[in-house]
Amino acid sequence: MKNEFKQVVVLTGAGVSAESGLSTFRDGGGLWENHRVEEVATPEAYDRDPELVQRFYNTRRKALKTVEPNVAHKTLAKAEKCFESFLLVTQNVDDLHERAGSKKLLHMHGELLKMRCVQCHKIAPIHEDLQLDRICEHCERTGTLRPHIVWFGEMPFYMDDIMRALMQCDLFVSIGTSGSVYPAAGFVEIANQSGAKTVEINLQRSDQNSHFQQSIQGLASQTVHDFFESITQF
Ligand code: APR
Repeated sequence: MKNEFKQVVVLTGAGVSAESGLSTFRDGGGLWENHRVEEVATPEAYDRDPELVQRFYNTRRKALKTVEPNVAHKTLAKAEKCFESFLLVTQNVDDLHERAGSKKLLHMHGELLKMRCVQCHKIAPIHEDLQLDRICEHCERTGTLRPHIVWFGEMPFYMDDIMRALMQCDLFVSIGTSGSVYPAAGFVEIANQSGAKTVEINLQRSDQNSHFQQSIQGLASQTVHDFFESITQF
């Protein structure tokens, strides 16, 4: 192996799924039915109008049936076998990384294909619409199931594992994220402090661009493959 890097952390955002046909959050106005994403993705929004919030996620869940992983997802699935240690952290709630074959993967913002009971905390798969009056099969309460999604103001999942990997990594690659949502937006600075090489791959310079040692602009479908091919033997 010609690999210069042994411990790799990759962070992905909506841009990696854009060419599969899933819209990003902040490009093109960033509105859904005239609501800013921040307005439908908060616990307050859910308390105020649970039907609207469920509909937002039901629509996004349904959209998964119409899309396929693209070459960037497939490249990352292949890349995980090329390093001693590899962790893919995604902010995406779609299932395209796993459908491409990624195994070393953490969904820090949750998953569209899971629901969670706010009473008994049981997490269960969901592939259809989530109705407000659905009964939790575990505790048998009604109306307690919500999307297993991290909303604004809530703590992302797996932060201990992610921080540990960032503090040990020698390469950190951020792909297709605007760098506008913390804590993910701050990962580059932690990786820099760990002495890692930090690389941004994005359509345009992100909000965090100045913190990266290398910046590659272009479509994820082209740039991600070229980058990993340049540092490893595929
Ligand atoms: N290839 C590479 N990058 C792309 C592509 C592409 N084909 N298409 C778009 N991009 C870039 C955009 O230029 C933008 O900088 O992807 C980025 C997507 O940014 P956002 O829409 O802000 O998505 P993301 O960074 O994933 O959002 C973070 O915000 O709303 C929350 O929880 C939600 O996980 C999400 C978080």
